[in-house]
Amino acid sequence: MNKTPGQLARRYNGYHRVSDAREDPELTRTGPHTPCGEYLRRFWMPVAMSGQVGERPVLVKVLGEELVLFRDLSGRLGLLHKHCSHRRASLEYGIVSERGIRCCYHGWLFDVDGAILETPGEPAASPIPRKLCHGAYPVRELAGLVFAYLGPPERRPEFPMLDTLSLPGVELVPYAIDYPCNWLQVAENPMDPFHSVFLHTRVTRAHFNPAWGAMPVVDWHPFEDHTGIYLTNVRRWEDFIWVRTAEVLLPAIAQPPDIFQNPDREKFFPGVGITKWTVPVDDTHCRIIAWRHFGEELDLDGKGDRSNVGLNKVDFLGQTGIERSYEEGQAMPGDYEAQISQGPITVHAGERLGTTDKGVALYRRMLRRAIRDLAAGNEPQQLRPRPGHQVPTMAGDVIVRAPASNRDDVALQRIMGREIGRIVYETMGIERSARRTEIERRVRAWIGAGLPAGSA
Ligand code: FES
Ligand SMILES: [Fe+2]
Repeated sequence: MNKTPGQLARRYNGYHRVSDAREDPELTRTGPHTPCGEYLRRFWMPVAMSGQVGERPVLVKVLGEELVLFRDLSGRLGLLHKHCSHRRASLEYGIVSERGIRCCYHGWLFDVDGAILETPGEPAASPIPRKLCHGAYPVRELAGLVFAYLGPPERRPEFPMLDTLSLPGVELVPYAIDYPCNWLQVAENPMDPFHSVFLHTRVTRAHFNPAWGAMPVVDWHPFEDHTGIYLTNVRRWEDFIWVRTAEVLLPAIAQPPDIFQNPDREKFFPGVGITKWTVPVDDTHCRIIAWRHFGEELDLDGKGDRSNVGLNKVDFLGQTGIERSYEEGQAMPGDYEAQISQGPITVHAGERLGTTDKGVALYRRMLRRAIRDLAAGNEPQQLRPRPGHQVPTMAGDVIVRAPASNRDDVALQRIMGREIGRIVYETMGIERSARRTEIERRVRAWIGAGLPAGSA
């Protein structure tokens, strides 16, 4: 029933606000042969932590598909459809073999690529192994995570080797966290830096550094090739201007810079705190599969704890449903509570987006366009390495000394965000360690030339 504006503005109007709005299936349904599911299947995504794959096969669910992940006795990883090609017994009860996995029921042996190696109860001349392959997906392992590609074989893209994954002195510690909700409400969170002011700082207490509580000046920029969005997130904290750049790479990669960043001194692009993927399990469950980064130039206050990073655990507050009681979650809610409490699949028609939600709205628009483009026959743009090195990324912190004066400080923050964001963007063609030096040189040169008159 339509509500009049008068009814919606009235107090005690619960009766008029009961909504029958539905979720947005174009962005939230990810099973096989759905438009979004087809789109997501064009990308490599992590499916498990290597540490989960031991002597026994592991049942994993990704994009609504039930799969079995295993490592055969010669060390190769396989990701196969759960149900045996013979009579559908689950391969989670299969016996890992020297080569592949053997179904428990009648002993058919499947290689990691789906080839049927043996059908021992059938005649030796059985045509089945020649005529049939079991459902299988390519996998690759990197720094404790297992990635898979679930799309059409002929469309398999290059693996997105980001420039943050091989930085000298940085250790990547894998982790995975289960969320009982749709993937999108978790994946869109990094485009909303304002929640850090409230959820992570002002509403209860500072989960990270108190500087997160300063209201930022934020700009969002789609990449020209439609591979994602980067934002500049600028704050004043005492005598420093802190410019944080971060990106979402479509469909669901995000890299929050140092999560324990303390803007108490000048810093030039020291690295990132996390590289993460949000992976749909099914339409009402998802998983963050990620690395925490540890290194000498990150977390200078020593707040991180690598021993608390792993399966359903990570070393900052409010990220899982198992570390704390419901009451503790109510007393000090974190990302987990804020995101799962939107519902199993959030209803966009029931939202009221404001100016702080521009990044979330832009991300949804870009996803929707990519999904529709693919449905119309146009393959999505993949991340590409720059010649000679890895896929360049934008995430990092630049913190410069710029004491407040009688100039308009918000205008100054906006100008500094734009200029420093431009410098970080324009240096993407440079390998990361040399790029840091170049960013510092260019930022110092720009500030040394005097801050623009427009900021006075
Ligand atoms: S069901 Fe697997 S071999 Fe028969
Ligand atoms: Fe958060």
